[in-house]
Amino acid sequence: MANRKLGCWILGAKGGVSTTMLVGVNAIRKGLASAAGLVSENAPFNQLGLIPLEDIVWGGYEIRNISLYDSALEVEAQTGTLGYATLNAVKTELDSINTEIKDGLTLNCGQVVDDLADHELQKNHLPLAEAVQTIQQDLQDFVERHHLDHLVMLNLASTEAFQPHLFEVPSYHSLEELHRVIQTDQRENIAASSLYAYAALDLGYGYVNFTPSIGSDTPALDQLARERNTNHMGKDGKTGETLMKSVLAPMFVMRNMPVLSWAGFNILGDRDGQILNDPINKQSKLKSKDQTIHEILGEQTYTKTMIEYVPSLDDWKTAWDHIHFKGFLDTKMILQFIWQGCDSILAAPLALDLIRFTDFAKQQGEAGLQPHLACFFKSPQGVEEFSLHHQYQLLVDYAKAKLKIRD
Ligand SMILES: NC(=O)c1ccc[n+]([C@@H]2O[C@H](COP(=O)([O-])OP(=O)(O)OC[C@H]3O[C@@H](n4cnc5c(N)ncnc54)[C@H](O)[C@@H]3O)[C@@H](O)[C@H]2O)c1
Repeated sequence: MANRKLGCWILGAKGGVSTTMLVGVNAIRKGLASAAGLVSENAPFNQLGLIPLEDIVWGGYEIRNISLYDSALEVEAQTGTLGYATLNAVKTELDSINTEIKDGLTLNCGQVVDDLADHELQKNHLPLAEAVQTIQQDLQDFVERHHLDHLVMLNLASTEAFQPHLFEVPSYHSLEELHRVIQTDQRENIAASSLYAYAALDLGYGYVNFTPSIGSDTPALDQLARERNTNHMGKDGKTGETLMKSVLAPMFVMRNMPVLSWAGFNILGDRDGQILNDPINKQSKLKSKDQTIHEILGEQTYTKTMIEYVPSLDDWKTAWDHIHFKGFLDTKMILQFIWQGCDSILAAPLALDLIRFTDFAKQQGEAGLQPHLACFFKSPQGVEEFSLHHQYQLLVDYAKAKLKIRD
């Protein structure tokens, strides 16, 4: 029997994380790199029969005209993480994926994202219903062209502007209202990430939101997923500073050492840093970064998270965290840590894990949110557990239950 084939449709397909992931997946396939960083290769997940990386077919949307290979050259020049020999070895694969990357749209993403688009995006001018139809046509053509068994849409696009009104409109809660927003072209009531999610979920495909943008984080889209018997999860990949927060904050709780303040100072360069330099787009990120501390230590904990753009750093982010806490006899003490990581190198394997687990859950007939994937996200949708240790246990328990059923 032929292997199953999974399609992955990437939003932001030529961005830093996506490019790193696509170079990586081909490098692993050719034996040029190990699978280090991939959670799905850990036991017991490696016994589940997750889709092999070589059976995933890639396509997606972008808003910039650069080729995927040139984007990879850019990432290598800035970070030195990919290696020119590896890029040469995977050029044919990157060129072939490049032909499957089409123009997306930037509806309500904010001016700073609009400014990234270096040419006119036709989909931006379509009425919403027609935009959905066009996206769905792109997805279906891709599925048919490659004889795919299923598809997962993966959001790796730039962080959208934070728009609080999107959490207040009737279409946030009600699927009926959401259909109406689309049919009556109420453009101010939906952002690109949610429109993309609507198109994918409506076809019964999966949706994963690695960004802090709203995406499928609405009860209406969750209802759509469940009605179409498919799954989704987000949001905002947990890769660095917040990963540390979700490990360290529970420790203070366990030792009954109240945290008086937690201040985090992040500096980063590259395009992601440039987008997050815009105060409205930055708000989306700050919201999800602070949530972990407040959920674990309580709302009263004083937090201050700063994100600053320092162009020369490129994708090498530095986070300095200063944690002020007290112990016995109310003695005040300080923990400081410095995290220095290459953002895309941290994010790319997790994106691969999420595609594989989301596809697996669909094969298991699971619809709606996927709480067992909480450990991958800063703001896991529908999950109240924020400690990394407990979140990881959710994933282990999930896998063990699946393996037991199989035995
Ligand atoms: N460690 C990490 O890198 C990390 C962790 C958590 C979340 N994220 C999020 O992942 C996303 C990608 O990060 P990155 O470093 O690759 O950024 P990037 O700027 O390199 O890539 C984003 C890509 O999306 C494209 N794009 C923007 N809006 C689009 C739209 N509406 N439709 C299609 N394409 C669009 C851009 O042109 C760009 O190529 C960001 O939202 C970031 O906040 C990254």
